[in-house]
Amino acid sequence: MKGWVVTGLFVVFEGADGTGKSTQVAAVSEALKKAGHDVVVTREPGGSVVAETLRSIVLDPAHDIDPTTEVLMFAAARADHIAQTIRPALDAGKIVISDRFVGSSIAYQSAGRGVDETAVADINLYATGNLVPDVTVVLDLDETVAGNRRVDRGAIVDRMESAPDGFQQAVRASFLAQAEAAPERHLVIDATQPPEAITQQVLTYLQCEHGVQL
Ligand code: TYD
Repeated sequence: MKGWVVTGLFVVFEGADGTGKSTQVAAVSEALKKAGHDVVVTREPGGSVVAETLRSIVLDPAHDIDPTTEVLMFAAARADHIAQTIRPALDAGKIVISDRFVGSSIAYQSAGRGVDETAVADINLYATGNLVPDVTVVLDLDETVAGNRRVDRGAIVDRMESAPDGFQQAVRASFLAQAEAAPERHLVIDATQPPEAITQQVLTYLQCEHGVQL
């Protein structure tokens, strides 16, 4: 069997709150499943038993968590998520679609909260064992529109969504900067487009750039 390497595909969706990530994660994964692919859909913080428990703590508005602790909690959840869910699925040759990954820690904890970016990056290199997504889809949307969507959604506001003015703009700018720094593994999408058009754009990219059959 030498030379026969089964490798999965690791796809991440990123974006500020209210950019339509969850809708796209669901639509893209459904389309890939319909095309016959073995797809694991997951999310951060979370995606494993321990990481989901950490999620309930780190996003709970009742807690006052300092930025350093926050970085470490997201990273700890990520390490468990990789060990329990992502690595085994990729090793089995599956497509893994994650709602958020390291890019969110750079955007929220560094650009948003002000933790040193090198520190956040280094902690995450350790937590992930250098696992880098094959594709990161960035859903990009003006904060005024995204903010209105969050209000319309009427969702319970978590600790990150209740952050001060300017926070979400900094998060958005960071995702764009990350994409600009590594364009070969990012796809930035204008999230004002209709959801179906966005889904199609992602699928076409996966087909053209990664040979995913549809
Ligand atoms: P998300 O699941 O997108 O929120 P929702 O439940 O509203 O769909 O993400 C939860 C929050 O966690 C989001 O505000 C971003 C934040 N977050 C970080 O601050 N750092 C991280 O590393 C990750 C993965 C998420």
